[in-house]
Amino acid sequence: MEEPKCEWTERIAVDYVKGILQPKPTCDTWDQIWDFQARPDDLLICTYPKAGTTWTQEIVDLILNDGDVDRTQRAPTHVRFPFIEWIIPSIGSGLEQANAMPSPQTLKTHPPFQLLPPSFVEKNCKIIYVARNPKDNLVSYYHFHRMNKALPAPGTWEEYFESFLTGKVCWGSWHDHVKGWWEARDQHRILYLFYEDLKTNPKHEIRNWENLLEKKLDDNVLDKIVHHSSFDVMKQNPMANYTVVPAEVMDHSVSPFMRKGTVGDWRNHFTVAQNERFDEDYQRKMAGTSLTFQF
Ligand code: A3P
Repeated sequence: MEEPKCEWTERIAVDYVKGILQPKPTCDTWDQIWDFQARPDDLLICTYPKAGTTWTQEIVDLILNDGDVDRTQRAPTHVRFPFIEWIIPSIGSGLEQANAMPSPQTLKTHPPFQLLPPSFVEKNCKIIYVARNPKDNLVSYYHFHRMNKALPAPGTWEEYFESFLTGKVCWGSWHDHVKGWWEARDQHRILYLFYEDLKTNPKHEIRNWENLLEKKLDDNVLDKIVHHSSFDVMKQNPMANYTVVPAEVMDHSVSPFMRKGTVGDWRNHFTVAQNERFDEDYQRKMAGTSLTFQF
């Protein structure tokens, strides 16, 4: 499919919605986003940015299409899963795309739980939340800022490290995000998943999605899904690797969207001092939660 022309040279501006940093067009459209009318058969994928959203989207679409790659390659990820708060003038509006999508809709969003448009829980929609350990999440987000002009420039690695720890990045504090969704998971129809579990044993993990997605997968189909959603295969798939987005917005020569796809890459970035500071901050912010991560 043809993507719209784009002549971007500047970085997007940002502002706050209820204390959470967001791209300015999202702030300007916030009332409409908040009033988004979900439908009871919607399936929503929600994450903190860079936690494995695209991977989860690909797996979900493969499941819903019984592993049929011809069907999952019908359109790029952002068209198959409208990103409801993503409003980019001259490129597109996730909100408009979502409103125009026939049911059952598959949607994507990144807000902390308190900023989730209320109709999703009112309509008891199916929600998949994916969390990733914060050190790898930070590294992935840093590189994504470098290549994506629809986010502010990250500054130096040291500066970005501080921005992340203080929650002064788009969609706010990682710690608050994962904790807020963790606390909400039992009261709503939320399947809470971890990137690291999916990486360790995708077949076993995906089996656990069958209930929520109301699909029974036979073993051959499941093997096919695991293969087509593997990092190496998705990296080559233009419908899953974001290379169809204009290079003025996402410049894969700076850092590819499908970058490494591993657990533990933070060890190649954190200094010993940064690691100690991160751990001390983590202990404090995560005290009292039963939520744990694999690093
Ligand atoms: P890295 O930058 O660490 O490589 P999101 O989709 O939420 O933006 O997350 C992007 C991150 O998920 C990137 O992490 C990307 O490489 C990784 N990713 C995407 N597809 C993946 C897959 N099939 N397997 C493992 N990681 C994947």
